[in-house]
Amino acid sequence: MRRHGTPLLAVSRSALRAQWDRFREAFPRVEPFYAVKANPNPAVLKLLAAAGASFDAASLAEIDAVLDAGAPASRIIFANTIKPSAAISGAAARGVDLMTFDSEYELDKIAAHAPGTRVIVRIKVPNVGSAIELSLKFGVEPADAIDLLIKAHKMDLRPVGVSFHVGSQCTRAENYVDALEMAAIILRDAHLKRLPIDIVDIGGGFPIPHFDREHDPFDDTVAVISQEIDRLFDANVRLIAEPGRFVVGPAGTLVMRVVGKAIRENKHWYYLDDGVYGALSGLMFDHAKYQYKALRDGNTQLSTLAGPTCDSLDIIARGEQLPELELGDIVYVPNIGAYSVATGTNFNGLPPAKVVTVP
Ligand SMILES: Cc1ncc(COP(=O)(O)O)c(C=O)c1O
Repeated sequence: MRRHGTPLLAVSRSALRAQWDRFREAFPRVEPFYAVKANPNPAVLKLLAAAGASFDAASLAEIDAVLDAGAPASRIIFANTIKPSAAISGAAARGVDLMTFDSEYELDKIAAHAPGTRVIVRIKVPNVGSAIELSLKFGVEPADAIDLLIKAHKMDLRPVGVSFHVGSQCTRAENYVDALEMAAIILRDAHLKRLPIDIVDIGGGFPIPHFDREHDPFDDTVAVISQEIDRLFDANVRLIAEPGRFVVGPAGTLVMRVVGKAIRENKHWYYLDDGVYGALSGLMFDHAKYQYKALRDGNTQLSTLAGPTCDSLDIIARGEQLPELELGDIVYVPNIGAYSVATGTNFNGLPPAKVVTVP
């Protein structure tokens, strides 16, 4: 920390590797494609590429980042259902030939700019109780999936599968159960129509202990999902997933410093060198609730933490129990490796937290 300064996002290589291995062990039948959007840091991508990971990229820039990290194009799925034409042709030129779609217009674009590509239709599934709802914006009605796959086939694309996303930080295993059943019905229907569909992409959403570090919600979902997979799909079906938060979330710790202090409303306010516009952007975009810890002992009191920008939206937490802090003190946040620096800005000219990997 002395070397790198603050704000700093420290990503533990051993924790990252442990999360990756844990996913693999929990779902031996499922091939994980790390969702780059969660944390696109080159060192993170390199470590996962070296571990043999595949990747879910949402843009051409993410595809290039994965290739730079040493993974081949054959291990990438372009899993943004809405892609600019130039990104489609760029991806194809780089050798990426697996893409998701959820509209006829997107099929037209893929057929025109990347003929012959393998395509996966994304369906709308229940996102009940997930922290981030994704079915609001994406997915075709399951009843329309077959028609679109047939259309893809007629356009000389290669329809190969069905995908869904149950919503990020999904602690309700029933969402996966419902979605897997819908995918199985589409697969069966496709086979009746002689479409060679054999990929089921179960997306991301795998939860981490965001609010309560004692209870790990992942374990609750594993058995339910595995049982459904075995019940619904025979060994010829290739199962893939796109975990982001689960892989990198628990591996990241944000380290900040107190750069200002005031007493307002009879409470201590501590101004930190990172905030809502930076690595704590998950407070806005990710509905995250974080734990704030200080490296100082003493009696605690209700305190407010605020970020460094000139915007009053940039208040991090009110009513945190903290010891009295001094300028220069460290405040750190565990479990914040995903959707943190990835969605931060440099509003007010403040540089984003530096990302470093640590053992
Ligand atoms: C298409 C897609 N795949 C995977 C993910 C990763 O989800 P999670 O981080 O919840 O695992 C997302 C997240 O937004 C997504 O949109």
